[in-house]
Amino acid sequence: MENYSPIFKDLEEKIVSLILEAKTLEDLTEIKNKYLSKKGEFSQLMNKIREASDKKAFGEAFNNSRKVIEDNYNVKFTKLNEDKINEKLKEEEIDITLPGNNYHRGAENPFYKVKKEIEDIFVSMGYTVETGPEVDLDKYVFELLNIPKDHPARDMQDTLYIDNNSLLRSHTSSIQAHVMEKANGKPIKIICPGKTYRRDDDDMTHSHQFAQVEGLVIDKNINLGNLKGTLELFAKKMFSKDAKVRFRSSYFPFTEPSVEVDVSCFACHGKGCPTCKGTGWIEILGAGMVHPNVLKMSGYDPAIYSGFAFGVGIERVAMLRYGIDDIRRFYQSDIRFIEEFNKKVED
Ligand code: PHE
Repeated sequence: MENYSPIFKDLEEKIVSLILEAKTLEDLTEIKNKYLSKKGEFSQLMNKIREASDKKAFGEAFNNSRKVIEDNYNVKFTKLNEDKINEKLKEEEIDITLPGNNYHRGAENPFYKVKKEIEDIFVSMGYTVETGPEVDLDKYVFELLNIPKDHPARDMQDTLYIDNNSLLRSHTSSIQAHVMEKANGKPIKIICPGKTYRRDDDDMTHSHQFAQVEGLVIDKNINLGNLKGTLELFAKKMFSKDAKVRFRSSYFPFTEPSVEVDVSCFACHGKGCPTCKGTGWIEILGAGMVHPNVLKMSGYDPAIYSGFAFGVGIERVAMLRYGIDDIRRFYQSDIRFIEEFNKKVED
């Protein structure tokens, strides 16, 4: 059998030594292109097979030589590749001993906590939550609520007008007017939280902007007892298990009879203390039975349907509930106040 290996030996040794000297993957690629690709110098040697008498022996010698080259190539390739990865890892090493970025954790404003709590309490009693526009038409803020153009009750709310016919709503009762209009004479059971606006001299207990939750139930056989029971349950869940409510007669144009609602003082349980100014009771909201005119204007027959409504200030409830002394604190975004408050609740 002919020995063809000398034909390949020189080039094989040259290529292997080049491979061994290669310092980068790029060097290896260059070698591959120059010698080992189809048109590469080494591959071209195969053409000599035409002159060989023993083609099988020639092929074997070529393959042996190629295998030596490939084995060297593969070992070197793996090594250089690993080196490259290790180098990259070293470059990108993260120093875990560096101090981290300190993100300040926010806290929920007590206003929103209480708003959510009020909503939860009423939703658990089957109410749905409705909202409405803050800039509204005279019709919804006043007219449909039995407050015609010349009614003195308009003055009481020191309204902020946008133009002759539209204004910043002075109470969330406007939402009830929208909902009644849309309900087409069907029963209603809703609460309507939202911002309200009145011209006011801001002080510890007054703000030109504050929020209310309006409640409205309209159905057959709704009476004042239903209103009292509902508000008592609300007071028990919001303030204290043994809370009681007291009605004092009052006046609102859209309710008849109208009442001012007090809750028994949860600080002293009715004995009299600074929180309740010694009376044992704290005023929390206005309410009443929906006025027949209001029912009529929105398409309800007062002989068949009756209803109750109430309006409670969210900030007022939050101030009582958490002993907050100044209404302006809700709007100042002072993180120290908000955090302090959150701690108090979590403890
Ligand atoms: N809208 C009244 C106010 O803003 C509150 C209220 C609502 C009273 C519903 C009675 C019934 O003062």
